[in-house]
Amino acid sequence: MKNIDKISLEKAYNLFETGKIDSLEIGTTKGLQQIHHHLFDGLYDFAGQIRTLNISKGGFRFANSLYLKEILEKIEQMPERTFEEIISKYVEMNIAHPFMEGNGRTMRIWLDLILKSRIRKVINWQFVGKELYLQAMERSPINDLELRTLLIANLTDEIENREIIFKGIEQSYYYEGYKKENDDE
Ligand SMILES: Nc1ncnc2c1ncn2[C@@H]1O[C@H](COP(=O)(O)OP(=O)(O)O)[C@@H](O)[C@H]1O
Ligand SMILES: [Mg+2]
Repeated sequence: MKNIDKISLEKAYNLFETGKIDSLEIGTTKGLQQIHHHLFDGLYDFAGQIRTLNISKGGFRFANSLYLKEILEKIEQMPERTFEEIISKYVEMNIAHPFMEGNGRTMRIWLDLILKSRIRKVINWQFVGKELYLQAMERSPINDLELRTLLIANLTDEIENREIIFKGIEQSYYYEGYKKENDDE
């Protein structure tokens, strides 16, 4: 694990340990930027900043930076009444991919905050397999059924359980190629 990712992982733990997580905006672009800023402050010069360049992954081109501001305003207005609505909002935010790097890790915390406040549940990420999750995310701009099925099977109402939260954070970093054990990658 590279030093930068190790430090970011510590910052992620810190977000919850200090209780700062409870002071963030929920379901807004600002809230997302607050999380990103916390995870990457001092590590990326664009921490918390919306990108001005276009990016793509696996042949998928995320929202054009020219329209990103307007798109983000629309996304934050999307409803959050049900699990399905919350996942739709998450999928749209992923399509927007507002940061140059760190979207995945930031957005999973953002998603859990919405789920926690609206339906009193969070995702138990430690049981959401990496391959299945990444496949479902790749598929999600076309159809989010796979993603919904995967995540609904791993909802928990233990929303204040430290172990679940911390293992979830580790899993989130693992999705992006950063593994806590065998620290010599
Ligand atoms: N082809 C794709 N189409 C849509 N979303 C994708 C695709 N590939 C990856 N993703 C999503 O993007 C995330 C990675 O974005 P990235 O900005 O690199 O975040 P991080 O730096 O936290 O890894 C993945 O976790 C996944 O949710
Ligand atoms: Mg990445």
